[in-house]
Amino acid sequence: MKPSPSLVAALLKSDSPVPRALVRGWVRTRRDAKGFSFVELNDGSCLGSLQLIVPEGIPGAEGQKDITTGAALEAEGELAPSQGKGQRWELVASRVKVLGPAGPGYPLQKKRHSDEFLREKAHLRARTNKFGAVFRLRSLCSGAVHAFFRERGFFHVHTPIITGNDCEGAGELFSVTAGRPAAAQPCGEPAEGRPGSGEGAAGGGGFFGRPASLTVSGQLEAELLALALGRVYTFGPAFRAENSNTPRHAAEFWMIEPEAAFFDLEDDMDLAEGLVRHVVGAALREGAEDLSLFDRFVEPGLVRRLEGLLGGGWPRISYREAVDILLASGGRFEFPPVYGSDLQTEHERFLCETHFRGPVFVSRYPASIKPFYMRQEEGGTVGAMDLLVPRVGELVGGSQREERLPLLLARMEELGQDPEAYWWYLDSRRWGGAPHSGFGLGFERLLMLVTGVPNIRDVIPFPRTPGNLEF
Ligand code: 4AD
Ligand code: MG
Repeated sequence: MKPSPSLVAALLKSDSPVPRALVRGWVRTRRDAKGFSFVELNDGSCLGSLQLIVPEGIPGAEGQKDITTGAALEAEGELAPSQGKGQRWELVASRVKVLGPAGPGYPLQKKRHSDEFLREKAHLRARTNKFGAVFRLRSLCSGAVHAFFRERGFFHVHTPIITGNDCEGAGELFSVTAGRPAAAQPCGEPAEGRPGSGEGAAGGGGFFGRPASLTVSGQLEAELLALALGRVYTFGPAFRAENSNTPRHAAEFWMIEPEAAFFDLEDDMDLAEGLVRHVVGAALREGAEDLSLFDRFVEPGLVRRLEGLLGGGWPRISYREAVDILLASGGRFEFPPVYGSDLQTEHERFLCETHFRGPVFVSRYPASIKPFYMRQEEGGTVGAMDLLVPRVGELVGGSQREERLPLLLARMEELGQDPEAYWWYLDSRRWGGAPHSGFGLGFERLLMLVTGVPNIRDVIPFPRTPGNLEF
């Protein structure tokens, strides 16, 4: 009988030898010596690989030529203290079996490949040390997000992915229609009578009887749920057709959006700060091995920088103070800072990277540059806040919401937004509309902060950016 399979992560941490162990994974390298081969086996469970000693002549070893880099391999044997340097344990195999050979041309060889090369190999790159570590940390951080909210009485809610509203009002929508996209039509099928073709398919009526799009934010629906359940959060995909080909924008990303009744703007910033600190702390505690890779090869000093983030306080300044700082800096900006205009990326980076050298909240922006739902203040500002962090820029954007119906209606009119289309949102202000606040945190940007990875394309398994839909 076969022993039950073990994960490499568990075997490497074993505190005693294991007379019979079974592992399965992918061959990273094979090196032949007299009478046996060394094989590095990685199963994705951790950064480390398990060294196998595969003696000639054991069952399965006759297929040794198939034990090549990339092949899927099963090995059974004794976990014994290693003679070699750099590892405590190795597995002396008594039987091996190639479960899936890797034919010639396997593109991942034992050398460092560039990020650009690996983006072209997104279907395989999770098998490298670096991308394995990214995606394990992604999972760890996702779990930490849920734990943070659960501990604070927030309910996880699911808001629609297909919507009829444009929460941010920026028009960066992907429209949704029924039927196959034109390029995927089978040859010869008549165009007429197909769902999604002809009249009413795109934009106009179609499946839902009105235009539909992929959500840019679950906020408006989350607000309705917060005004019933008290504290809620979403953690799901958001889609934006903004054509900004930057290292910080993706067309599809995951957003965490808490919304809490009776929270004001200060509570909102406390919550955002608490969340980021919690996730960074969890990564340092539970992801130390994977983080060490980024500390060595991606951003030297990363771990110390993350620890520093947790140590210091995070200043909170107003938009006006931010512009004052920018103007006084004498900094040479491509776009000179002007009161009343939105902060540019270069301004945000100056504030957190040069001036404060750490995370900083900027709040109370001019109403004129913000969406309709933010709470209006005296003097033409709204109760908005952004959290800016070094190297990532804007990590969080949020606000206290306008709960006063007349003010909300006046603002919508000003922006030319049709109140009829948002009757359900306005109802929440008609009946028991309470003060409430929330924010959106781009999960990938949080991962960029945690790992030091400078491009959003490298923290998403299969990124969607303009012109990129291969995998
Ligand atoms: O600042 P944004 O646009 O805010 C909202 O959508 C609000 N409705 C959120 C809320 O209050 N519930 O987006 C929130 C965050 C940004 O701070 C950024 O981290 C991230 O989402 N984000 C993106 N991340 C990757 N790619 C993009 N194209 C992103 N656009 C926004
Ligand atoms: Mg924003």
